[in-house]
Amino acid sequence: MPFAKTGKDFLKKTGNLILYTFFAPGAPNWSLVILCFMQIDAKSLEYCLQHTTAVQPVLQALERETNIRTLHPQMLSGPYQGMLLQLISHMVRPRRVLEVGTFTGYSAICLAQGLVEDGLLYTLESNDEHAPIVRKHVHAAGLDNKIRLLLGDAATLIPQLDETFDLIFLDAGKLDYARHYALCLPKLRPGGFLLADNVLWDGKVVHDMKDATAQALREFNTMVQADDRVDNLLLPLRDGVMLIRKR
Ligand SMILES: C[S@@+](CC[C@H](N)C(=O)[O-])C[C@H]1O[C@@H](n2cnc3c(N)ncnc32)[C@H](O)[C@@H]1O
Repeated sequence: MPFAKTGKDFLKKTGNLILYTFFAPGAPNWSLVILCFMQIDAKSLEYCLQHTTAVQPVLQALERETNIRTLHPQMLSGPYQGMLLQLISHMVRPRRVLEVGTFTGYSAICLAQGLVEDGLLYTLESNDEHAPIVRKHVHAAGLDNKIRLLLGDAATLIPQLDETFDLIFLDAGKLDYARHYALCLPKLRPGGFLLADNVLWDGKVVHDMKDATAQALREFNTMVQADDRVDNLLLPLRDGVMLIRKR
């Protein structure tokens, strides 16, 4: 799919964080990227926007329809995080991807970009009302054969999947992250990657807010940090992304 070379939405989505990627030829594929974050001034950020690949038209159309037709369009990953998911997928070159929490399919389309020829992405969603939007845009992206939408509760569906995954994205109910992580990790191959979205929860996790979601995510982050089966990096990207590699 063609990429446009603009970056209008980037500024809104990035805040004062900038992502750099450095590719090291010959290194193992998971180590091909180094992520650095720094605070920068508005002019520098604008310059970065002008030198950043923008999203494909199919994702622009999906974001537009999500904004018009859903009640909580902010749940969609968006262009900046979507590009991160695409790049990680291209680096991992997965054969099997699992996404927990589809919504309208934005992140599923991003994560499917790096699938190998016979690759397949399963995406799990408990709410069936957005399924027509998902199917429409997956079709427009030419990914009918690569994305399988499964409707139902993730905790029921995950144990039924007889697959070993190379890449997993946790993005369903935040109160269920620990449970979904426990179900998913045994299905992730050693050396595979798991990403968990929204782990900073708008700053509430760090600033010790007492709401139930912030508390659950705090416990999740503590659990991952103590889990000696994995290496992890909490990225201060958008709402916080925990990047995890299974040892
Ligand atoms: C943040 S949205 C997903 C956004 C999407 N991954 C993206 O980046 O565009 C979370 C989705 O998870 C779904 N969800 C919540 N709890 C779930 C569960 N237990 N099983 C499956 N899906 C669930 C919600 O209905 C919602 O559509």
